[in-house]
Amino acid sequence: MSKKSFPLSKVYGLLEPAPVVMVTTALEGRSNIMTMSWYTMMEFEPPTVGCIISNRNHTFNILKKTRECVINIPTLELARKIVGCGNSSGRKIDKFKVFGLTETAVAGDTIKLPSKMK
Ligand SMILES: Cc1cc2nc3c(=O)[nH]c(=O)nc-3n(C[C@H](O)[C@H](O)[C@H](O)COP(=O)(O)O)c2cc1C
Repeated sequence: MSKKSFPLSKVYGLLEPAPVVMVTTALEGRSNIMTMSWYTMMEFEPPTVGCIISNRNHTFNILKKTRECVINIPTLELARKIVGCGNSSGRKIDKFKVFGLTETAVAGDTIKLPSKMK
């Protein structure tokens, strides 16, 4: 077996075995959803996930205020909507409506956010 060189700009794709996830947040009755792949497990007990969320994202601003979010693991058939949610901002549009996710948003059990995606 021989080693191969890859362009550095492509290497991250090989280091990313975990699924892309969807972060849902809510502020003043308006929910938002953002695509995220920069996260990692930090601790087993209590289960802790570390995330990198850009301060240019609307999600960042909501999180700063509410300190609450849900991490949703989407299914493959949502792939196009996931790309859409990762290339548009809740600052300008209601992504649940635009990408037809309203039907899949189910109220959370312990916090007031959409927490499940069918
Ligand atoms: C596959 C994929 C993965 C992404 N991962 C992240 C991430 O880990 N952190 C981040 O800040 N933005 C990430 N983004 C970009 C955000 O989803 C994007 O900036 C989005 O428009 C933010 O939405 P918001 O302004 O409604 O919060 C990703 C986008 C895609 C398509």
